[in-house]
Amino acid sequence: MNFPGFRDLHPLQEEEGAQGALELMWRLQEILAEVAGLHAVSLQPAAGSQGELTGLMLMRAYFTDRGEAETRRKVVIPDTAHGTNPASVTMAGYEVTHVQTDPRGNIDVDDLRTKVDAQTAGLMLTNPSTLGLFDENIEEIARIFHDAGALMYYDGANLNAVCGISRPGDMGFDIVHFNLHKTFSQPHGGGGPGGGPIAVRDRLEPFLPVPAVVRDGERFRYEYDRPKTIGKVRGFAGPFGVFVRSYAYIRSYGPRLREMSEVAVLNANYLLAQLKDAYELPFDRLCMHEFVLSARTLKRPEALMIEPTETEAKETLDDFVEAMLEIVRDASEHPELLKDAPHDRPVGRVDEVKAAKRAVVRYLFEDHPDLSADSDGARQLEAQKGA
Ligand SMILES: Cc1ncc(COP(=O)(O)O)c(C=O)c1O
Repeated sequence: MNFPGFRDLHPLQEEEGAQGALELMWRLQEILAEVAGLHAVSLQPAAGSQGELTGLMLMRAYFTDRGEAETRRKVVIPDTAHGTNPASVTMAGYEVTHVQTDPRGNIDVDDLRTKVDAQTAGLMLTNPSTLGLFDENIEEIARIFHDAGALMYYDGANLNAVCGISRPGDMGFDIVHFNLHKTFSQPHGGGGPGGGPIAVRDRLEPFLPVPAVVRDGERFRYEYDRPKTIGKVRGFAGPFGVFVRSYAYIRSYGPRLREMSEVAVLNANYLLAQLKDAYELPFDRLCMHEFVLSARTLKRPEALMIEPTETEAKETLDDFVEAMLEIVRDASEHPELLKDAPHDRPVGRVDEVKAAKRAVVRYLFEDHPDLSADSDGARQLEAQKGA
């Protein structure tokens, strides 16, 4: 990222002076298409959720092109879905149809059959699901949707469970988004920028956002001339720093990319095996890269989602297990200890939601009293202190 050719680029740099950056983007597109098992990629969306919205806009453009946009109004989502899925469906102007989960944690196929018809535009599914379970009926599910003329959307936020092992395109999905910040560079959190590229099957390629990054012999360029495109979904070329990190991360594994997923899955099952007797396990199956436990025997409904990723050392996993088991012991022997934990920090529990909603920029005023004495902010602060 610190190479001058990457670091000093301007978003409006002419193509001739940005050949290296364009080549990196083109190569990343090619790799992601291969990982997805699909035909074409756009790197533009800035996060998983924006990838979802973009994918649904592609779905709409596809059905509009076929004259079916008015009839196909519904998108099916399982009741285990991540909250961004129904939000994206609604923002894209579709209606959400929920499908139930069966006792093994798969989509309930019988329920599904009653919900898919000529008004269905598609399914939105993350596989493995948010419960960390791979849907055992995915091919059957894809058949149900394709027979009804509908499309399959893959929420790739959990792709690091299957990357290099199985491909969404082979499972029957037509549109995929990647969470580059989860799978390929900055696993989980950190608050940094994200990347939510999308990959599509060939019949959806004409609708992808512009510009596409294309190769002409030894040169790379942006291509805008795509008459059926949904247009731009983000300023400039997308989150370029994330592309560099993701590309470097993928290349560091090279042909052994599947090891990333294998270790993520191994780590999760290692934790599952050690915690499942102490906590309640709603679905007793081998998990993928994450699993859900319930702590409802300790506290009123309390779901725990545990996702160690491929990057944690065994010592860290063991420390985590020890801490989780200690919590169970304390809950029955010294519950008061848990109620006012943590005990070893200068600050106890921080109410982050309140801090975000009612930010008080106290230090600014205290450090610069002359600047702020008569400001609106200072008056607000005084009012809050008095309240
Ligand atoms: C299953 C699933 N889908 C979508 C998203 C949304 O991704 P992003 O946070 O990049 O918008 C997440 C994020 O945690 C997720 O876990």
